Amino acid sequence: MRETSLSPDDFIYPLFVTFGKNIRKEIKSMPGCYQESVDKIAKHAKEVYSLGIPAVLLFGIPEHKDEIGSSAYDPHGVVQKAIRAIKDKVPGLYVITDVCMCEYTSHGHCGIIQKGDVKNDPTLELLAKEAVSHAKAGVDMVAPSDMMDGRVGAIRFALDKEGFYEIPIMSYAAKYASSFYGPFREAAESTPQFGDRRSYQMDPANRREALKEVAFDIEEGADIVMVKPAMTYLDIISDVRDAFDVPVAAYNVSGEYSLVKAAAKLGWIDENRVMMEILTCIKRAGADLILTYFAKDAAKILNEPPRRRDGGVSKK
Ligand code: PBG
Repeated sequence: MRETSLSPDDFIYPLFVTFGKNIRKEIKSMPGCYQESVDKIAKHAKEVYSLGIPAVLLFGIPEHKDEIGSSAYDPHGVVQKAIRAIKDKVPGLYVITDVCMCEYTSHGHCGIIQKGDVKNDPTLELLAKEAVSHAKAGVDMVAPSDMMDGRVGAIRFALDKEGFYEIPIMSYAAKYASSFYGPFREAAESTPQFGDRRSYQMDPANRREALKEVAFDIEEGADIVMVKPAMTYLDIISDVRDAFDVPVAAYNVSGEYSLVKAAAKLGWIDENRVMMEILTCIKRAGADLILTYFAKDAAKILNEPPRRRDGGVSKK
C-alpha cells in the first residue's frame, strides 16, 4: 500500500575522473567516493551498471587549469577520454556529463572573469564548445550546471548545428548558492579562489524564483529540469513537479551525503535507514530521478531479498 517506492532505476551516480594512471583516491569528506583515473573509471562504471543503476554523471579534474578553462573542451580531456572508455566497456550504461567551467578554470568560477566579475555571455560560447566536445566523444546527455542565463539555448543551438539533435539536455535549472556543496568542491578541486557563486546561483530564501528559472530553461530546450540541493529543497521539487510536465531530477548533494556519513561514523544515526528515508522523501516530493552518492549503497539494499526498502535489517 506504500505510495512511494524506490528502485535502482531512479538513480544517477556521480563519478569524478582525474588525470594520470592507476589512481583511485578516496575523497576525505565523502567516504566511499573516489577521484579515479580513466583506466579505473570504466571498471567502476561496470560495477554501477551491474547494480541496476542506469546512468552516471561525470565530473572532470583536469591536469591543467587556466583562466578560460580550456581543458573543458579539449578533445583529449579527462571527461572526453572517460566517456569513450565507459562507452567502450559498458555500452549499456547511460553517460551524462556535467557541463561547467569551474572544474577547469584557475579561479574556480563557473564562467570567465573580466574585470573581477563572472561574465555571462562570453561564458555561453565556452559552455557550448564543451557540450559539443562531450557529444563528439559519445556522451548520451549533457547537464549544464553553471547557471549562466541563456546557456540551455546556446548549448541546444550548438549541438543541433553539429548534428547532435538527439542528445538531450538535463539542466541544473533551480540551483541554489548552497553551502552544502562544500565537500564536492574538495572532490572536484573547484573552490572559487575569490568571492562566491551568489551572482549566478540562486538565493536559498527564494521559492517563486525557482519557477521562473525552470520556465526559462524549458523554453530554451531543457528536456529534464533539476532542483539542487534536494533535502532542504523539497518544497521546490514539489512546486516544479506541479507546475511543469517534464521529468524532474533532484541532486542529493555532497554535503547532504557527508552529514549522514559523519553522523553514522559517530554512531549517532542508523546510516541505512536514514539514507533510505532521505531518498524516499525526495521521490515523494516529486523527483523522477535522483542524483546521489548513495546510489550504490541504496541499490544494494533494494536488490537484496527479502526486500526491505526502508533499509532496516532483514529478518529470516
Ligand atoms: C559545478 C557543480 C557543483 C556541483 C555540481 N556541479 C558545485 C558548485 O556549483 O559549486 C555540486 C555537487 C555536490 O555538492 O554534490 N558547478
